[in-house]
Amino acid sequence: MIRSWHLGDDRQSLVLASFDDRLPEAVYWGPALPTGENLETLSAAALADVTGGMVDRNAGLSLCPEASESFPGQTGLTARNASGTPLMPSFRFESEAASEHGLTLVFADKGLDLSLVFDLVLTPETSLLKLQTRLESADEITVYWLAAPVLPVPAHTGEMIEFSGRWCAEFLTRRLPFAPGSRVRDNRTGRTDHAHFPGLVICNAGTSNTAGEAFAFHYGWSGGHKMVAEELADGRRQVQFGHATASLASGRHFVSAPLYATYSATGFNGAAVRFQRHVRDHVVQGARTPRPVHYNCWEAVYFKHDLDELKAIASQAADLGAERFVLDDGWFGRRDDDTSSLGDWVIDKRKYPDGLTPLIDHIKALGMEFGIWFEPEMVNEDSDLCRAHPDWVLGHADQIRGRQQLVLDMSNQEVRDYLYAHIADVLKNNDIGYIKWDHNRILPVVDAEQAEGFYELVDRLRSDFPAVEIESCSSGGGRIDFGVLERTHRVWLSDSNDALERQRIQHDAALFLPASVTGSHVGPRHCHTSGRTLDIRLRAWTAAQRHMGFEMDPRELTEAEAETLRNVTSWWKANRSWMMQADILRLDSADPAVIAEQQLAGDGSRFVAFAALTRPSDQILPRPLRLTGLDPQGRYRLSLVNRDEAPRLSRGAPLLKHQDLEASGQYLMSHGLTLPWRFPETVWVVEGERL
Ligand code: GLA
Repeated sequence: MIRSWHLGDDRQSLVLASFDDRLPEAVYWGPALPTGENLETLSAAALADVTGGMVDRNAGLSLCPEASESFPGQTGLTARNASGTPLMPSFRFESEAASEHGLTLVFADKGLDLSLVFDLVLTPETSLLKLQTRLESADEITVYWLAAPVLPVPAHTGEMIEFSGRWCAEFLTRRLPFAPGSRVRDNRTGRTDHAHFPGLVICNAGTSNTAGEAFAFHYGWSGGHKMVAEELADGRRQVQFGHATASLASGRHFVSAPLYATYSATGFNGAAVRFQRHVRDHVVQGARTPRPVHYNCWEAVYFKHDLDELKAIASQAADLGAERFVLDDGWFGRRDDDTSSLGDWVIDKRKYPDGLTPLIDHIKALGMEFGIWFEPEMVNEDSDLCRAHPDWVLGHADQIRGRQQLVLDMSNQEVRDYLYAHIADVLKNNDIGYIKWDHNRILPVVDAEQAEGFYELVDRLRSDFPAVEIESCSSGGGRIDFGVLERTHRVWLSDSNDALERQRIQHDAALFLPASVTGSHVGPRHCHTSGRTLDIRLRAWTAAQRHMGFEMDPRELTEAEAETLRNVTSWWKANRSWMMQADILRLDSADPAVIAEQQLAGDGSRFVAFAALTRPSDQILPRPLRLTGLDPQGRYRLSLVNRDEAPRLSRGAPLLKHQDLEASGQYLMSHGLTLPWRFPETVWVVEGERL
């Protein structure tokens, strides 16, 4: 007997089938099927043959492949009972229920008193699947691995793109062949981490940003994940995501984080746009619009807080166009460097004898909002908190320190109450609209309860201070995932304010993140993390591609630099209302030295393309830049916004250098833009509107 279900829209179909009441398998995932397709026939038609050297029935590559079926690869559940005996459940259909835009399927193993529940939703506006597995046990058990609903990827997908990275180089992508065996990433850091963004894209050799098939995944969890992309000996391929294996848990109720997934027939951009829109419109809650221009004082003053200097900096930042001033690390305890005071969330009277009010009043008088830095989950041994509560520290006493700091045990209610009380006190007594929430080390012990404790604390603060926005930072981009974005409004993408590095990081992060949540700041002339010296135009346009801000000491700017920054900032302000809602489409540049993208308004009425030349090209002339996502029949007017940046060595007369261009979408997508010659480390900015 076959039961079948369909989740789909006009962009994709996912067909699930349960054979003889066994766990459901995704028997089809790909382009939208025509209405009226007979799902039962399709399910039966997908059953593979059996030959010599095999067991007599292919074990199901189900939403949770079972050891009891002798599944020949990674199973979806590994658990033991209280006496340590491995559990080998064999689940059978119990019930089904429709939910809004999805369904809930319940299966049970009556002998073991276990039930396995799949919550499956397809959000119609974004065509993103959100899939979750729950396990309920009558008895106490220990779970070593519980996968979010497991999806197969078809045999014609030969490659995968996975994510690694490091401090100052988040979202590094690697394209690997799909080969027999497993590609496993098991993150043991206890946080999302720079090196382990929980994403994966399965594709073909020919898939590009703008064309081809892609199956994309993201696991929305901040406690560290495990990913398995496996090709079985029989040729089938599966993708599994779950909590990192080190975060095993005992109890009766277990739930995976949501796995977000989508199928795109229109290249990486097709999937990227769905993730971007979903984050912007369904994950992030209550972000203020328009997005205010930031000023963050970290790279200007570090721990040296001097009220008069900060006021002077704030005045200049406001003059450049900043609308929110974020006071970074150094305002609390006796925090003169990174060796002390984390945990003592009390204003440092040596630096602020009259509290923060004089600074906040100055900032408000300039028309800016005030934001402040916390690193709640961390503690220095040199702190009143650690001296009073050494027992609140997570892990062994002789553990290796990270940035001289230890981690508080967030599963302890007393710890959460202490942090809540101190943060709430600062928020109640000061006019604060924003928190930068940092997390500057990996955990000594990987435990899901740590991330759950963090979620609970942020949720409590969010519900009591709904007007306060939060930025997720973790030495830059060490905690970026949809779990944290459900409770925050912005991510600090990277500690690298090097605009060239930023171009690459922003480009790859756009596979998942919209501009509205992606913080990007104009750093100092001499970049503090790369040692490079970069022109203000490159720095300003790079920040203007995302949620813009400044982080240099504005007193270092020459008048000409300040003027450039003022101009780019007012350009950004004039465009942010649509740009922060636009789709970021990565362009397939024919020149590998160029990183290019096009931000296209949802209704297709306008766009802006950014093309950064990151190093000298191999060929002498710029290669035409082909646009995407336009109506081939539509007519567009294009203008090179910063044509005054063309250097004297650009001696010819390409049309865009002197005047606007009117052309069809077909021409712009097929031939592309002929841009003027320019120096490396520059960005061309081209605005377009549909006529
Ligand atoms: C981390 C953050 C920085 C800054 C410092 C403060 O490194 O990523 O932006 O806030 O902490 O100590």
